[in-house]
Amino acid sequence: MTRLLALSGSLRAASTNTALLTTLAELAPTGVEVVQHGIGDLPLYNSDLTGPALAPVERLKAAITAADGVLIAVPEYNYGIPGPLKNAIDWASRPAYASPFAGKPVAILGASAGGSGAVRAQGQLKQVLLGMGSQVFAWPEVAVTFAGQKITDGVVTDETTRGFLERFVVAFAAWAPAVPNPLG
Ligand SMILES: Cc1cc2nc3c(=O)[nH]c(=O)nc-3n(C[C@H](O)[C@H](O)[C@H](O)COP(=O)(O)O)c2cc1C
Repeated sequence: MTRLLALSGSLRAASTNTALLTTLAELAPTGVEVVQHGIGDLPLYNSDLTGPALAPVERLKAAITAADGVLIAVPEYNYGIPGPLKNAIDWASRPAYASPFAGKPVAILGASAGGSGAVRAQGQLKQVLLGMGSQVFAWPEVAVTFAGQKITDGVVTDETTRGFLERFVVAFAAWAPAVPNPLG
């Protein structure tokens, strides 16, 4: 079984980015499991924190470590990565260069309400992932524009977009477990 961990950069219940991940789980090929992991319970990054406050951090790091690959759906906030997602990534990035993200295959996708497809945030997220030594999936890319028109009840219903999502998850699920880890 190939296990893909899915992180949504949006905390809201009706998130279009979370809907992309829900749809990927539906479209994943046989033998591939897409499991979402919430980031809303993480404290704000503070290296002084100790003890029980770090339990959500440890859960996130363990989930990333256990996964063959990580999928991140990123909304774009003011041309950039939303704070809650950057916070989660910063927590999981420690210890530097030996974190659960080091060498980990990661694929990015994004949805926007307008015509951008969150491409600026996706580009920034790739840069951040490279800084942690992650192996960033190059292609195919998924940028879902005018997402509100393509999603119903938390699932992508637009057939063309579903086709892109299926090709994306099939390609990433084939690549992620096979890619050698140069850091591991
Ligand atoms: C604080 C904030 C800033 C935003 N900035 C952008 C932006 O720079 N570019 C863009 O395409 N959409 C922007 N949006 C709109 C988002 O694309 C839209 O809210 C989207 O639905 C968020 O993703 P979600 O549905 O997964 O929550 C912004 C939304 C918020 C709340």
